[in-house]
Amino acid sequence: MTGTVVLKLGGSVVTEKDQPETVAGDRLAALARAIASSDVSDIVVVHGGGSFGHPHAAEHGVSSTDATRDPEAVRDIAAAMENLNSAVVGALADAGVAAVPVHPFSAGYRDADGDLELPTGHIAAMLEEGFVPVLHGDVLTTAGDGVTIVSGDDLVVSVTRGLDADRVGLCSTVPGVLDEDGDVIPEITAFEDVGGALGGSDATDVTGGMAAKVRALLALGSPAFVFGPDALGDFFAGDDAGTRIEG
Ligand code: IPE
Repeated sequence: MTGTVVLKLGGSVVTEKDQPETVAGDRLAALARAIASSDVSDIVVVHGGGSFGHPHAAEHGVSSTDATRDPEAVRDIAAAMENLNSAVVGALADAGVAAVPVHPFSAGYRDADGDLELPTGHIAAMLEEGFVPVLHGDVLTTAGDGVTIVSGDDLVVSVTRGLDADRVGLCSTVPGVLDEDGDVIPEITAFEDVGGALGGSDATDVTGGMAAKVRALLALGSPAFVFGPDALGDFFAGDDAGTRIEG
């Protein structure tokens, strides 16, 4: 399949969430094989922090809204994410994928309005040269504040817009966006349709995760899919996987 696909591998998929700094080796190897056997021409991978990034960020009191100016904290969180990135790139390489690391802290920042500024020219050039760039949730310089965390999901939105990607996949441990009964919602075209199931439609999203994700994906302009690891092959084949989200 020609076109550009942006794939986020959730931190809970690539790491063992309850064991500090532990890569989920078998799961990661299986995902890497699925990526290697896809015939999509251009793939950008973004992975989350899981048991690498989150504990270090929490230890230093840093989040996407709580900033730090402590360089040691920045180095510590960045190093943990670099370690995980090396493991993900390594697993992809072992499967024969032309994976290369891209560290967002070195490439972008959040401006004074809080907008993520991430240039994508270098990522487009990497794709053009046949590489599979592998980005990750990271620390990010934040104008007027110091350094905050940028989530993999935010990077996915930014990269998808910047590259005008054709399809977006969010692979996490859940098989899709779930309704109140725990069943996968096949398709979401408006937030109002599912706000209840996601714990309310308030923009300040205290329930975190999924509601904010769905809102951002609806605004993308490219179809996005939320699915579990087993559906990665379907996603790459261009079939519907998990929940399809398109506003
Ligand atoms: C978090 O990225 C990155 C850091 C904590 C440094 P994400 O928010 O995308 O990670 P997951 O997928 O939830 O683990």
